[in-house]
Amino acid sequence: MDLIFATGNEHKIREISKMLSNRFNLLGLKDIQCFVDIPETSNTIQGNAILKAQYVYDNYGKNCFAEDTGLEIKALDMRPGVFSARYAGEAKSSEANIAKVLEELGSLEGREARFRTVIAYILDGNIMTFEGIIEGHIAHQKMGTDGFGYDPIFIPENETRTFAQMSAKEKNEISHRARAFKKFMNHLNL
Ligand code: IMP
Repeated sequence: MDLIFATGNEHKIREISKMLSNRFNLLGLKDIQCFVDIPETSNTIQGNAILKAQYVYDNYGKNCFAEDTGLEIKALDMRPGVFSARYAGEAKSSEANIAKVLEELGSLEGREARFRTVIAYILDGNIMTFEGIIEGHIAHQKMGTDGFGYDPIFIPENETRTFAQMSAKEKNEISHRARAFKKFMNHLNL
């Protein structure tokens, strides 16, 4: 059975496809010939997840799920949060976003942070949402080369390594996205 993931982000597709039962064939936006960068105009993570799923449902008439993720840092009043992708500007550069976060935190010791993912699933026009959170803290410098986005500076709870220093399997066992996805799969009774 086809399951449409309303994203063009290949990293996210790769992570989700590794968690998915082989009953499903995961399709991204490109697979349904959608090449639009769906505008994320909501001021909440949940709102943006819903916007993306609703866009595909409205324009392609297909049931699908979408997700939105934000990094919330306590000392920065929970920024970048919903602005995580564009934190350092419209270029959406992970390098620049990381540099901005590290600069803003400076040598501060209280670096508690969390990733929050909301998955929005739209089925015949009805929307359901599922949230996943991983607590952790921000490293003093980038470490590791795996993963994507803010992974090189995020150290999850009970760990000394960043997500970027972990294997994809290790990240997938505890990540915000995995936690939200597990709830979604439970809802589908899988
Ligand atoms: P969005 O959900 O695609 O809007 O992503 C928001 C921002 O968070 C982007 O800069 C992503 O690169 C980043 N991001 C999303 N998911 C992850 C993750 O699992 N690890 C690290 N960064 C992420």
